[in-house]
Amino acid sequence: MEKLMVTGGRPLQGTVTISGAKNSAIALIPAALLADSEVILDNLPLLSDVAVYAEILEGLGARVSWEGSQMRIDPSNVKSIPMPNGPVKKLRASYYMMGALLGKFGEALIGLPGGCNFEPRPIDQHIKGFEALGATAVNEHGAIHLHSEELRGTKIYLDVASVGATINIMLAAAKAKGSTIIENAAKEPEIIDVATLLNSMGASIKGAGTETIRIEGVQTLHGCRHSIIPDRIQAGTYMIAAAATRGNVLIDSVIPKHLEALTAKLQEMGVTVEEMDESIRIIGGPDYQHIDVKALVYPGFPTDLQSPMTSLLTQANGASVLSDFVYSNRFKHVPELVRMGAKIRVEGRSAVIEGGTLNAAKVQAADLRAGAALVIAGLTVEGGVTEIEGVEYIDRGYDNLVTNLRNLGANVWRQTI
Ligand code: EPU
Repeated sequence: MEKLMVTGGRPLQGTVTISGAKNSAIALIPAALLADSEVILDNLPLLSDVAVYAEILEGLGARVSWEGSQMRIDPSNVKSIPMPNGPVKKLRASYYMMGALLGKFGEALIGLPGGCNFEPRPIDQHIKGFEALGATAVNEHGAIHLHSEELRGTKIYLDVASVGATINIMLAAAKAKGSTIIENAAKEPEIIDVATLLNSMGASIKGAGTETIRIEGVQTLHGCRHSIIPDRIQAGTYMIAAAATRGNVLIDSVIPKHLEALTAKLQEMGVTVEEMDESIRIIGGPDYQHIDVKALVYPGFPTDLQSPMTSLLTQANGASVLSDFVYSNRFKHVPELVRMGAKIRVEGRSAVIEGGTLNAAKVQAADLRAGAALVIAGLTVEGGVTEIEGVEYIDRGYDNLVTNLRNLGANVWRQTI
């Protein structure tokens, strides 16, 4: 076990290059199962969640080779082997195995997902979609057993615009008979990325990125090569870290449009944000204004940047209000920030954050983005060492975090516990 040690007080300076998106990668890898020949994924992030997914696919008989940022997946010998336990339990996104195996074989038995459990995260909309396509879904001692003789296209209205349900239904419907229409679909860029891969494999999916997605089922899907979009949440985390340390950082290999909600909020606070074609420069200022932020579904402010933003708002003058309308109680970072001297109170779905100075403390990352928030908080503290436990959560979503921060001049290191 390791912990992260952070001595702050230095403005971040330099360039950081962003890797491929975690939340795309962990949907694209299971999507590759639907092909009948090799799929090559480029720009893959080096993350523990990706390694777990490679292990899951190998367990089903896929040939997986992963070198640097490229993964080759040959699914020609894959079988729908029941996976009630094992690596599927380590990942939230193992639910994509349900859509992929149901779409390919009409049969899947997958243990209910693990992952970052900052609050109960139901998958009723995924199941509703599978059932609408004609599958039966039975919970067998904590594993979902899906079965269908023949999936048939239909119209599915999602009660919540869920990223996971939208992608899972696309996976199951890509080879279903006839047309499927998903209404109130989620619009996150990762959904477009999955549709792009599936279309390169021979699927017919239109409207990804809008609230109505139309899928015309096809009989076979073939191999292809696909490059994963940049990780907007990783990029946003470095933008926030640069602002919090009043640094000057070029965030490279990004799609600035994916970060518009964050850019607008940073500018409102008084941070200078310069957008180029594939990069963003953040120049911190001496004084930041308090602001209100509402985390919403895309293109709103991302819930995954809500915790890192909390740390930045401790550096603003006055009281900011940060509300999360995606998750009702994603505030496990708050008590830890309070340990560091932050003045924050949670009221329902909102955190009220009074600006002030933080101090070094021993803290615990309870989930991935809470971990990122604590690293950013530690980077603002002059003197003392902030010790962050729960590094395994951070490793799930941040490729080379320590190396990247050190290259930007931060004093951050890992220490064995
Ligand atoms: N929801 C339901 N029923 C469902 C599905 C979702 O009620 O069947 C609710 C959830 O409880 C939540 C809301 O709908 O309140 C949105 O959930 P969504 O399904 O969109 O989230 P997800 O697909 O489980 C993905 C990301 C999360 C990210 C959310 C929102 C992956 C593997 N995870 O989760 O990422 O927070 O979308 O953008 O793609 C992270 O990266 O740290 C992370 C948690």
